[in-house]
Amino acid sequence: MTRIYFNDVVTRDGFQIEPNFIPTDDKVKLIDELSDCGFAKIEVTSFTSPKAIPMLRDAEEVMGRIRRVPGVEYTVLVPNLRGAERAFESKADEFNLVMSTSETHNLANLRMGREKSFAGLTEVIQYVDSRTPINVSLSTSFGCPIEGEVPQAVIEGFVQRFADLGIRGITICDTTGMANPDQVKKMCDALQQQFPDLQLTLHFHNTRGMGLANILAAVQSGIVRFDGSLGGLGGCPYAPGASGNVSSEDAIHMLDAMGYDTGMNIPKLIQLAKELPVIVGHEVPGQVAKAGSTYTLHSEPSYVEELRRAQ
Ligand code: COA
Ligand code: ZN
Repeated sequence: MTRIYFNDVVTRDGFQIEPNFIPTDDKVKLIDELSDCGFAKIEVTSFTSPKAIPMLRDAEEVMGRIRRVPGVEYTVLVPNLRGAERAFESKADEFNLVMSTSETHNLANLRMGREKSFAGLTEVIQYVDSRTPINVSLSTSFGCPIEGEVPQAVIEGFVQRFADLGIRGITICDTTGMANPDQVKKMCDALQQQFPDLQLTLHFHNTRGMGLANILAAVQSGIVRFDGSLGGLGGCPYAPGASGNVSSEDAIHMLDAMGYDTGMNIPKLIQLAKELPVIVGHEVPGQVAKAGSTYTLHSEPSYVEELRRAQ
């Protein structure tokens, strides 16, 4: 059975677009519950400027208060050197650096061009100097909502440059749900062939309903690491029309039904997804939590037994 590794990003990617501040107590409680579900990683928060992302201004407190379960990596988003210093203080298990492969999206999101971002992240990687594993998330890798197509060669070029700096992993992000399964297959085949030693993770948004199809295309091409967000919450605050990440429980439920080993406690995960609307104050897009898993069968209507006997 192929083992699949999931990283839940609900408290970072999921929460950062929410309009109302989610209390620190709720964040800590949710992360502690996620820790018992079997995730390989949890992206807890981000050490960005609190002015840019006020929702995550409590990053230090959240990192300080969560329960660390052995075997779960607690990763954090780090945009720059200041973020790396803060992430070290909080003893994060992995730093997730981020930049866009589209010039315009990078300007909108990080307020600088791609080359300036690359130079800044290079400085962070040199400063970290292998003390903590580094992952780099490349946003808009399957298309930019402002510029349109981002050629695969551009993504391959950035992956090569980061690989040369000795990082552990790369996450290929479909920030606004523009990827289609054919494109995903081509990208995954090429990257696995060129970078067999890099940890490759795929990060999909379900903006146009293609999230699960894209996960399927990736897994069939040999990818075993995915980001997901509980309930399907999420979205980039700087991407017009952005919407939720692929739902962790929907994706894990699908892969489990197909016979993949997800290592997850699916009933617990579904229960958590059911409780999420109370935390965020609105419905969430995930579907399995509403319908129940395919293993949860309904009792038969009372007249069915009568009909059976009359047959
Ligand atoms: N942690 C805390 N504060 C930070 C910081 C960090 N990592 N990086 C910058 N700041 C503060 C600076 O101290 C400065 O504060 P001041 O105005 O009180 O002096 C302010 O933010 C601006 O700093 P500057 O260096 O000019 O950065 P910037 O305005 O160009 O912002 C980013 C750069 C990337 C840090 C900021 O735009 C950001 O955090 N964006 C959010 C990116 C993100 O998470 N997007 C969604 C995920 S993909
Ligand atoms: Zn995302």
